[in-house]
Amino acid sequence: MTKKFAFLLVAIFTTILAVGAVHTSLRAQDSSVLKASFNPDGSVKIPQNWRTWIYMGTPFTPNALNDGKAPFPEFHNVYIEPSAFAHFKKTGKFANGTQIVKELALVRQKAKDEMYKDGSTDEVSGRGYFQGEFQGLELAYKDTGRFSKEPGGWVCFSFGHKAQPYNKSAKAFKSESCNACHQASAATDYVFTQFYPVLRAEMKK
Ligand code: HEC
Repeated sequence: MTKKFAFLLVAIFTTILAVGAVHTSLRAQDSSVLKASFNPDGSVKIPQNWRTWIYMGTPFTPNALNDGKAPFPEFHNVYIEPSAFAHFKKTGKFANGTQIVKELALVRQKAKDEMYKDGSTDEVSGRGYFQGEFQGLELAYKDTGRFSKEPGGWVCFSFGHKAQPYNKSAKAFKSESCNACHQASAATDYVFTQFYPVLRAEMKK
């Protein structure tokens, strides 16, 4: 075997290995995102351990600033499932399987004479709003395969707008009820990244 021929063989072999590796890693990327679990009737199961996911932020729309009629007067604590966040970090895109939850937390209540009319209270850090008990859980989920007919492949679910225990499963809302507003007003692929500095910090990179 000439030196040239041996070199060529090595080169070809290396190329095959490299192409294989890229392929495997692409596939891994897709399957590395943890998808939500569904029941045979098509309802989604409540996620596990969402409070240990990546925390995105807490939009807050108190009654006092909404004529006493905020649809969600609670704090909205928002988290993204870690493997979906890892994909977003790498690509700037929400992968199929992305799960984002919003858990509601009531404004902390005190005795009436210790609360201002707007529901705020004085605490050692100052006057403001502080979190009380949990009051509901919602999920936004993307899967352009399972939900190919939904705009963007996104669907929204609610496990109850109430104190715990939450419902164990939830049926998808019609897109007019939830998704349409997200489509119209959310900055990035149905997600309100304009309110989440944790995601924007990754988009700038
Ligand atoms: C009128 C507009 C509107 C409608 C209708 C709406 N949402 Fe949202 N949604 C928002 C906004 C604005 C946010 C950003 C954070 C916040 O204010 O809570 C949000 C955020 C979310 C999030 C966190 C992820 C994200 O995309 O930011 C989930 C989960 C969610 N909504 C679920 C639902 C569900 C379930 C419904 C239907 C029952 C629904 N939404 C209907 C406006 C809407």
